[in-house]
Amino acid sequence: MAPRKLIAGNWKMNLLKAEGEALVRALGASLASEPKPACDVLVCPPFTLLGALAPLCGEAGLALGAQDCHAAPSGAFTGNVAAPMLADAGCAYVIVGHSERRSLHGEDNATVKAKAEAALAAGLVAIVCVGETEAERDSGKAEEIVVAQLLQSLPEGASAGSLVVAYEPVWAIGTGRTPTVAQVADMHAALRKALGGAVADAAAVRILYGGSVKPGNAAELLAVANVDGALVGGASLSHGDFWAICQSCG
Ligand code: PGA
Repeated sequence: MAPRKLIAGNWKMNLLKAEGEALVRALGASLASEPKPACDVLVCPPFTLLGALAPLCGEAGLALGAQDCHAAPSGAFTGNVAAPMLADAGCAYVIVGHSERRSLHGEDNATVKAKAEAALAAGLVAIVCVGETEAERDSGKAEEIVVAQLLQSLPEGASAGSLVVAYEPVWAIGTGRTPTVAQVADMHAALRKALGGAVADAAAVRILYGGSVKPGNAAELLAVANVDGALVGGASLSHGDFWAICQSCG
């Protein structure tokens, strides 16, 4: 049986406290109404809002996650935030290896793996992001490249309860462009197969699609085999859009 879908909102470096609180409250009101969407709903606000939003998310029935963590549990790392701090703030999830971290902060697969292992050690679910650039897609080797990225980024000892994978083609993030349904199906099948050799309960690991997911394309993308949810950036900042995407799960 396919895992229950997860719709995750990645707020990136957006929203101040009052805006974040209003969004969480609006999502909570929607979640309390009928019909309930067939998915778990997660929001990943900036670090500064985690503490304030944790109790509101609890009341709203939303899971809370962060957008990054450091690989060390504590120490002299000015400006960084450790995984146990995220758990302490009320997070259940943390995104690691987002393409913006990989490209703008020079994070390689080894760094992402170390961060994912730190997340697991702190009792968090690691959302490990992978995805090809446009040049890699054009080279015809996207699957090979993304599978290698996944295998090198996977934390040791992961299981479906501690790992989510997010396939996000770099060229689809924030661009309004998306891969075809066939391209998504092929990539997700390749990732599922690769997980089979690395994680005992690979069939139960949620593999999200991310990159320009909107209300208008969500139903089609979420219906693809092995697509167990979505990682949503821009559209997660609007209650109407994000909720419409949640409802696209059926
Ligand atoms: P987007 O971002 O939905 O704005 O394309 C997705 C992401 O970066 O997680």
